[in-house]
Amino acid sequence: MLAQCAGTDLDRAAMTYIALALDKMVNYNAIQVRWHASREVVAGVFDRHNFSFYWSYAEMAPVITSNGYGWVLGNTGKALGELIGLLGQASDGGLQFSPPRPKPPIHITCASADSLPIEDASVDCVVMDPPYYDNVMYAELSDFFYVWLKRTAGLLYPDLFIGHLTDKDREAVANAAKFAGQKGGAKNLAGRDYQRRMASIFKEQRRVLKPDGIMTVMFTHKAAGAWDALAAGLIDAGFTITASWPVNTEAESSLHIREKSAARSTIFLVCRVRETVPANAESRYWEEVEPTVRQAVRAKVKEFQEAGIGGIDLYLACFGPALQVFTEAWPLTRGTARPQPKTKQRDLFEEFDPYAVRPEDALEAARREVKQWRMEQLATVKRQHHLGALTEWYVLAWDAFRAPRFPADEALKLARVVGLDFDQDVKKKVCEVKGDDVILWDSVTRHRNGSLGHVSAECMLDTLHWAAKTAREQNTGAAQSLIESAHLIGDPTLLTALEALLNVLPPGVASAGRKKPDANLAGAANDFEALERLRKLAFAETVPAPKIPEQIPLELPALAEDEDESAD
Ligand SMILES: C[S@@+](CC[C@H](N)C(=O)[O-])C[C@H]1O[C@@H](n2cnc3c(N)ncnc32)[C@H](O)[C@@H]1O
Repeated sequence: MLAQCAGTDLDRAAMTYIALALDKMVNYNAIQVRWHASREVVAGVFDRHNFSFYWSYAEMAPVITSNGYGWVLGNTGKALGELIGLLGQASDGGLQFSPPRPKPPIHITCASADSLPIEDASVDCVVMDPPYYDNVMYAELSDFFYVWLKRTAGLLYPDLFIGHLTDKDREAVANAAKFAGQKGGAKNLAGRDYQRRMASIFKEQRRVLKPDGIMTVMFTHKAAGAWDALAAGLIDAGFTITASWPVNTEAESSLHIREKSAARSTIFLVCRVRETVPANAESRYWEEVEPTVRQAVRAKVKEFQEAGIGGIDLYLACFGPALQVFTEAWPLTRGTARPQPKTKQRDLFEEFDPYAVRPEDALEAARREVKQWRMEQLATVKRQHHLGALTEWYVLAWDAFRAPRFPADEALKLARVVGLDFDQDVKKKVCEVKGDDVILWDSVTRHRNGSLGHVSAECMLDTLHWAAKTAREQNTGAAQSLIESAHLIGDPTLLTALEALLNVLPPGVASAGRKKPDANLAGAANDFEALERLRKLAFAETVPAPKIPEQIPLELPALAEDEDESAD
């Protein structure tokens, strides 16, 4: 029957697209399929990034007019049409105002990017959208489709379906599950594996690129470790970053974006093959290059912010120019030895070299520069008093992540930027660690946990949290008296701290949806309201009103049902 149906190329193509359509049908007829109540449609298995329980389950009826098979076939055809349009292969019969270009041949290959069936130095441009470290485990998810495709498209292309399941071995993702229970820590090993795989993929691109060829790599990740691994892979393979562009790619209404401080933009890194450095060339000193990295960031940060990039994305956007200077200056070494980090932060496999320089050094310089810039923005009060490290950490954490929960790895790096030891000075004082995340505490939680210091000039965050707690539990007048009795009512550092805090805390908008707002977010919003009342009562003349539009509203509409996500 197969021989009868798949006689010509057109038959084979039609059968292939029908196989894809059948996979789409399965995606809407599995146990994880739910009823999207507000849109009144069936939502597919991969519509969310989790396996949570749903209010209502559903399955798509296969044979119903304009639904089921008709719908999946129509959608597959539509996607195919868009692809053909994108590739410039469409001939829609419309008027042509320029001479038709010859249609270039298109060759599609299914191969691992670390061994391409392409000749050396033959490619002008590589455009790559690699996995973003540990964001999505593509091969594991693909098995859902693979087992069905094997029984449909597999009859036409048996060579592509030799494996029992998809190939997990050559996949370039940081998958800790692959290293579970192994010595050295599963996450650490997964990170190293990703870096090694990306380096060999980049080396392969270098092989196929013409000497003056160009490669664009898209990347985003909120954890700096992922950036360090990617940039180290690029450098290992002999590439330099010559330009970078932040592009807004994520839907802001996504649940995982709103509550978990996820990044919204993807950074496009433009890379070229580095000129070969003569073997006897001396390494440059990082100490000489660092100011140039900071200058490059300073020159771009304003532009990025004016283009509407904020929060963690502002830091990520600035990683591009920082890595550009870094890779252009490579090879680098340190003039002064750096102190050995604590075991927890150290890579257990690599011997510690006090003179070694890594991309992470450039990222840290970028972070410092962005931090300085943001603090200037958040406290417009001309005095610009130094807020104290803990207050600065708290303000910058809210400013960057705009959520009470964010990666612990980032919390640690932010602590380093403001000169604190995270474990000693920050943890259990203003936040707790839960799994891989930290959760910021509001004034009442801090008091309940016994971590609120005194009302004094020593720590303005403690003073303002006391004021917020008093205003929340008693009244605003009592909060004012508290500050007056500590003789801090006109203190310039307190005014600066109040302005900065009001500019980063979530303004308290009542929840409009069915979903209860996150308790930590609600606590912070209550602090905002209490401090804003206090500002109006006691500081109306001295502290400007908060720039609310820049902040996250606490309103959580019916996201649990409404969101419609796509994997990256
Ligand atoms: C960020 S996604 C690309 C998404 C794509 N741009 C799109 O819009 O559908 C990364 C892709 O890289 C693939 N991948 C992972 N390891 C690979 C390897 N060694 N060779 C080629 N592709 C790989 C994953 O399967 C995944 O499809």
